[in-house]
Amino acid sequence: MSHLIAPSLLASDFANLQSECEMINKSDADWYHLDVMDGVFVPNISFGIPIIKYINKHTLKPLDVHLMIVEPERYIKDFKIVGANILTVHIEASKHLHRTLQAIKQEDMKAGVAVNPHTAVELLEPTLEETDLVCIMSVNPGFGGQAFIEGTYRKVEKLKSMIVKAGLDTKIEIDGGVTSVNARKLIDCGADVLVAGSFVFKSENPTKTIADLKKI
Ligand code: DX5
Ligand code: ZN
Repeated sequence: MSHLIAPSLLASDFANLQSECEMINKSDADWYHLDVMDGVFVPNISFGIPIIKYINKHTLKPLDVHLMIVEPERYIKDFKIVGANILTVHIEASKHLHRTLQAIKQEDMKAGVAVNPHTAVELLEPTLEETDLVCIMSVNPGFGGQAFIEGTYRKVEKLKSMIVKAGLDTKIEIDGGVTSVNARKLIDCGADVLVAGSFVFKSENPTKTIADLKKI
């Protein structure tokens, strides 16, 4: 399978979300990456359920929703109702991760687990079978436009070998500071999905930037 590109709308023009969505619809992007922040788990507030409901009216591709919130298990049904296809919770915010992953799947969504830069990927092992996607944070979550953390490559390689050893099909997603400089190496280490915010939306031609990332 060739790698997937998931532009993060966090870096888009929030006053023109419809046209930003239409740009992604026509582009080579595979998913929409939607970053929900609560100002508690991360030191920033982005957008939530009502905004996603309206974004969903203009999207033709899967919605990959990244919850940077405490107690994510409280909102699983709400995100399903507004159109989430993949729902990712942070391991650091989930007291009962196994139960939360089951609850996400029960709502017929793909279940994702995100890990902060300081969190060892080995901690994912007990729930790997229930995990459709692991989102490896390559910046500290909360803001777009930060510099990529180089130690990420090692984590991707480790996780990839855990997945292969277990004979699973869990996808590895990389989130934060992804550019054309690190994309190839990330894929070679085992990444399946690249999230890109600033690199896409702050570029002169976002459609072309997405196409270039897809071709890498
Ligand atoms: C960070 C978010 C990312 C962010 C990526 O907390 O989870 O998805 O939008 O943005 P860039 O690509 O600008 O680092
Ligand atoms: Zn994200």
